[in-house]
Amino acid sequence: MRRTVDWVDGAVVIIDQVALPGEYRVLELRTVDELVAAIQRLAVRGAPALGAAGALGVALAAFAGGSADAVRAQAERLAAARPTAVNLRWGVTRALGRLDEGAEAVLAEALVMLDEDEQLNRTASAHAAEVVLAETTRRPLRLLSHCNAGHLATVAWGTALGVVWHLQARGLVESVLVDETRPLLQGSRLTAWELAQAGVPYRVQPDSAAATAMARGLVDCVLVGADRIAANGDVANKIGTYPLAIAAAHHGVPFVVVAPESTVDTSIASGAAIEIEERRPEELTELGGVRLAPAGAAVFNPAFDVTPAALITAVVTENGVRAPQPTS
Ligand code: MRU
Repeated sequence: MRRTVDWVDGAVVIIDQVALPGEYRVLELRTVDELVAAIQRLAVRGAPALGAAGALGVALAAFAGGSADAVRAQAERLAAARPTAVNLRWGVTRALGRLDEGAEAVLAEALVMLDEDEQLNRTASAHAAEVVLAETTRRPLRLLSHCNAGHLATVAWGTALGVVWHLQARGLVESVLVDETRPLLQGSRLTAWELAQAGVPYRVQPDSAAATAMARGLVDCVLVGADRIAANGDVANKIGTYPLAIAAAHHGVPFVVVAPESTVDTSIASGAAIEIEERRPEELTELGGVRLAPAGAAVFNPAFDVTPAALITAVVTENGVRAPQPTS
């Protein structure tokens, strides 16, 4: 599969994740405005992919030829396009660090980040595969996934789904239970599509079936990615991750988080300081443009939640299992 986010002939090129799985479509984004819009409607999404997109967006701004202040203003728009995944601001900031050397240097830095992304994800998920094997006894494994933390959520390979790829290569995966991931269905649309492409047996389930699956002994390990990890090991991830962790703890099922170090934000002591994106009411009140809820229904639509470190078996990055750290 091509990279989820790439740079081709002066444009940011993305796999359009809104169109999947019905249509595999590639979009060319030539302005910061187009990229910000694509980020906000989730055409490009997932914390590591957002970091790469943000860095390439700074290159777009730098090549547009405005003053350094104008480029910095565009960079801030990119960094603020979605607030929860720290990788977005991290990617923007790292690319912006080369602005004094010119647009080519900004692009070079962004392209290094794209290359690094796949390697870091492969390493983090290989470490996590060993953690999963150490924490479980049944073979082959029955895994549970929430949201999409695969190839599509990164430049390539994936984090939590990267663990599935490693284990599958060793013949150690029986099947994956895929949380549909309400309300935007990153699980049933994207994770299921990736598993099908890879020939991994899977079943889609409503998010609310996860505890029942655990109670019936159908889950050996839960694997999720992360959008931001606080110094104390609290993890922000797609809404529904926290109740999944509570259910896993209740049923004694290991709960493993996989992410690159760029998802760790040691400037915040705990998950309480993580800004949680709230999204449009229509994501809940409508389905495919058809209204489900009564007109004027009030809505609570947080896109992410925070799982306390105490509920997590291990947070695994390219450096291995991560111990809580002091705030930087
Ligand atoms: O709103 P999204 O689809 O960007 O949310 C993505 C997630 O919550 C992922 O689990 C997270 O970014 C980790 S991706 C490796």
